[in-house]
Amino acid sequence: MRIGIFDSGIGGLTVHRELRAALPGHDLVYLGDTARVPYGTRSPETVKRYSFAVASHLAEAGAEAVVIACNTATTYALEDLAEAGARAGIQVFGVVEPGVRAALAAHHDGAIAVLGTEGTIRGGAYQRALTRTIPEDQIRGVPCPLFVPLAEEGWVDGDVPLAVAERYLGGLRGQIDTAILGCTHYPLLKPVLAEILPGVTLVDSAESTAQAVLAALGPGDGDGSESFVVTDHVDRFTSVGEQFLGRRPQSVSWVDVGPPRGVFSLP
Ligand code: DGL
Repeated sequence: MRIGIFDSGIGGLTVHRELRAALPGHDLVYLGDTARVPYGTRSPETVKRYSFAVASHLAEAGAEAVVIACNTATTYALEDLAEAGARAGIQVFGVVEPGVRAALAAHHDGAIAVLGTEGTIRGGAYQRALTRTIPEDQIRGVPCPLFVPLAEEGWVDGDVPLAVAERYLGGLRGQIDTAILGCTHYPLLKPVLAEILPGVTLVDSAESTAQAVLAALGPGDGDGSESFVVTDHVDRFTSVGEQFLGRRPQSVSWVDVGPPRGVFSLP
């Protein structure tokens, strides 16, 4: 099967990495919208339009399933993308529900923190999903916008990320037992987060998403080919992407995704 994966840019490679490990026999096409990153600070309407445009390209590239490897895009576009995809037999997966399930399984008697971009926290998709099981006063949504540029710069250890993490999260110590890394970039900061929040279970929604896709599609029995397309800066994607993917992405090319169309015309 050919699976399209998309993110606002490089961060979704953390999801690609987990998908590759869990589904070795499917072909993966990754699209990073590097010309329009970040999505995390944009309006819901803009994030939705970008997501539909990118999904349109993936559908034309032959994707039979689509994984939204971006928390902000999942927050604002999953419902409508899934509805549009269903009409054409394209299953669409997001990162929120799998992260929530993993967090609820890990959580004991403390609160659950959701760490994400401004858009993800403001959109409230994680919080809404959590309130189906735990009361609202057990949930802390914390926007951590500076974590994205830190991860992109490779500043994932040392004084600077520690100081930033302390500022965002120090106040949660003793209140929470679980934190959802609700942004594709945050898994790179796991060691720093573990230092600031000792004893707290850090839930990586990349891992739980890959398990959800595996449960739905199986591991595949093909060659497991892969390709990467980006809307800007092929070279930067290739070099910075190595940290996110754990190896250098191969076969990276540029693409102009164009407007939303076809299966994924805007509703
Ligand atoms: N990929 C985005 C997310 O997971 C983070 C980067 C951005 O703001 O676009 O929310």
